[in-house]
Amino acid sequence: MIYLIGTKDSRRTEYFKKAADDCHAEMELVEWDEVADKDFGGAVVKFDPPSYTISNLYEMNGQVALYCSRLHELEQEGCTFLNMPADVEMVLDKRRCKQRLAENGIAVTQPFTETVCTVEQLKEVMEKHRAFSVFIKPVLCSGAAGVVAYRSFPGKGTEIAYTSCRLFQGELVNTKTLYRMEKQEEIHLLLQAVLSLGVIVERWHPKASFLGRSYDFRVVWQFGKIRFMVARLSKGPITNLHLNNSPLDWKKLNLPEHTLEEINQLCDRAMKLFPGLSVAGIDILLEKGTLRPKIIEINGQGDLIYQDIFYDNIIYKQQVEEMMRMELLQK
Ligand SMILES: Nc1ncnc2c1ncn2[C@@H]1O[C@H](COP(=O)(O)OP(=O)(O)OP(=O)(O)O)[C@@H](O)[C@H]1O
Ligand SMILES: [Mg+2]
Repeated sequence: MIYLIGTKDSRRTEYFKKAADDCHAEMELVEWDEVADKDFGGAVVKFDPPSYTISNLYEMNGQVALYCSRLHELEQEGCTFLNMPADVEMVLDKRRCKQRLAENGIAVTQPFTETVCTVEQLKEVMEKHRAFSVFIKPVLCSGAAGVVAYRSFPGKGTEIAYTSCRLFQGELVNTKTLYRMEKQEEIHLLLQAVLSLGVIVERWHPKASFLGRSYDFRVVWQFGKIRFMVARLSKGPITNLHLNNSPLDWKKLNLPEHTLEEINQLCDRAMKLFPGLSVAGIDILLEKGTLRPKIIEINGQGDLIYQDIFYDNIIYKQQVEEMMRMELLQK
């Protein structure tokens, strides 16, 4: 028996179950609120993230803290995990993840190490690094929630921000639409709200483009190799697919062989730093001009890819097969 901890009516559960059926594996779903009563002793377990129903980002840090305490409890179970709770927690924090990658010489989108809590501090950091285009990202959010691409034109005194969150009736609301903002007062109010969540500030790296749109990749790396890669084509600077961006088969990009090899090696070197993760979703951009790959983010639970589950479902099938192998080894 293999176990999936997750949510009953979610896509993740539905397609993992399908994969288990296809592989003739016995699997049981355990919902997050049933975990405390369950004894996993000796079993092989995968856990998916809980479904967050909130849209107010001010509540997100509390929700993630709750999730992390559940991960600590899970860690105490005497079972084998597909991904270790401690490692999932480590990469959940964008700052810790980036720091680990950067200090080990992995090519990443460049983080600035200064603490930034106010718009004034943000401006100082941008001035200091001569970086007038930056990304501001809440350290504990995912799926582009709270992410702001911000550009200021010092000579002209004008500013632009792109984001999918809005201030509305005292709440910082996450939406599925990308907004472009130009009014300085509005931008600063929004920035202040986002900065209060605790953020990482990075240099905004221009991305390579295809047919007039910029793109980056979501790579699914598992069991030592890249197993799936989808390009995300976007008119704006934030490429997440739920924001109305377009997935594209990476083969259509006709990338040079050496670029693909560089992506491979980058993922390999990065994932060696997280031995507790058998599975990860890695966001990678190719720098405009040089096509040099840089890691934007590693997501310890970034394995849900619609372009796979609705077709061959190979990512989940491989996981089921690997979990069955792990189970056999224990007997
Ligand atoms: N420094 C950067 N330069 C250029 N583009 C960036 C940079 N950081 C983020 N982006 C863009 O913004 C998107 C969202 O950022 P990121 O992936 O870090 O956050 P997220 O999607 O919330 O996190 P996760 O991938 O863990 O869910 C990226 O997919 C990428 O398109
Ligand atoms: Mg991402």
